[in-house]
Amino acid sequence: MTLLLASQSLKIMKNISLDITKAEQFLKTNAVAAYESKVKAAQASLENGTCPGNDFLGWLHLPSSITDAFLNDIQTVANTLRSKCEVIVVAGIGGSYLGARAVIEALGNSFAWLVNDKRNPTILFAGNNIGEDYLFELTEYLKGKKFGVINISKSGTTTETALTFRLLKKQCEAQRGKAEAKDVIVAVTDAKKGAARICADKEGYKSFVIPDNVGGRFSVLTPVGLLPIACAGFDVKELVKGAQTMEKACAADVPFAENPAAQYAAVRNALYEEAGKKIEIVVNFQPKLHFFAEWWKQLYGESEGKEGKGIFPAACDFTTDLHSMGQWIQEGERSIFETVISIERPEKTLLFPHDDENLDGLNFLEGKRVNDVNKMAELGTQLAHVDGGVPNIKVSVPQLNAFYIGQLIYFFEIACGISGNLLGVNPFNQPGVEAYKKNMFALLNKPGYEAESKAIRERLA
Ligand code: PA5
Repeated sequence: MTLLLASQSLKIMKNISLDITKAEQFLKTNAVAAYESKVKAAQASLENGTCPGNDFLGWLHLPSSITDAFLNDIQTVANTLRSKCEVIVVAGIGGSYLGARAVIEALGNSFAWLVNDKRNPTILFAGNNIGEDYLFELTEYLKGKKFGVINISKSGTTTETALTFRLLKKQCEAQRGKAEAKDVIVAVTDAKKGAARICADKEGYKSFVIPDNVGGRFSVLTPVGLLPIACAGFDVKELVKGAQTMEKACAADVPFAENPAAQYAAVRNALYEEAGKKIEIVVNFQPKLHFFAEWWKQLYGESEGKEGKGIFPAACDFTTDLHSMGQWIQEGERSIFETVISIERPEKTLLFPHDDENLDGLNFLEGKRVNDVNKMAELGTQLAHVDGGVPNIKVSVPQLNAFYIGQLIYFFEIACGISGNLLGVNPFNQPGVEAYKKNMFALLNKPGYEAESKAIRERLA
């Protein structure tokens, strides 16, 4: 079934669309339609707040609740940072990192860090690892530069981010003085709790609140994502407008067959439960979408991978990975399906030139757009992978701009909420993430972890 999404803006602008025909052919007739009542019930439980994890449903109608006044506040703070900083370091991890990076990389110049554009600060990401070389090289790079920091952590205590923020705060204060540093450090954190809140209040930093009822991986449309995205110079109003459009197109009262999120949730669960497809590979043919897939991986991985269940979310950048993972996808174990995020029209035009000597034999491409070649690679790959037994879901995106990225974000979020409920898990918690932290704190002799430290040392002795 090919579905063109209905929305108020349809008359003016085409929406993203979903094609599941090449996945349905791997399922029994009407297998997706058979999910209708279960999907409706799952979405109703989100709407009524009766689903597991119902204290984390603040994302569900977030787009339509965002006001212009709020976006103007974000923009004002972003403008201040943009005017005072050559570099802005965004410190955060997981849901406090991936959404901003996904959007900034999707919309930005592929060589942004090399482009010397005085109107745009360089945006860097940190606080998402504990690599000593990474942090050393970051602090070296920042030496002598007018940099600012956005410190993002809902709990305000995440080790990777807190450790990085301490380094950056000290360096910023040393280079700019405490008074000036105060104007270029912004916190995005809980309203009351956590070390990041305590520090922001004590130092007098501008701060934004992450709503209690929005979990990290669903928070890209809060200041967690919007502030860095605005700092990078992208149109957060358009992004939110796109998400609002999709909130309408995927609403609970939209008929099942016309609701793209319902269809996507249904087909992936049918592939998982009925066809034994345990791995979903999100694929792009535009390198700018690499981090969008990273964001998607976290959204689905942390939401669904629990209680011994869940589709494993993987991602490939094509055609790059056709020369590495392509072999496995074509002929490896038939436990996978692909979801292709297909950009219909690139933003720029590059025509392939004529060459008199034609030593490379490529004159048959003369005058064509590079995208014409990419599109044939995409179609050729789809046909080959379907022939090889890989169900294919296609999400078509008219253009790679803020509006459509906003649509994609909400589409994948609502589909994830529905899908997790279909699977029978709480999609909004992540109890498994605590296991490594407990061991790390015990190994580092963190105060309060004395018993765990003793136990782990005995285990390792
Ligand atoms: O999705 C989530 O909840 C997590 O990935 C968190 O975003 C991540 O662990 C970072 O947490 P915090 O924002 O508390 O630093």
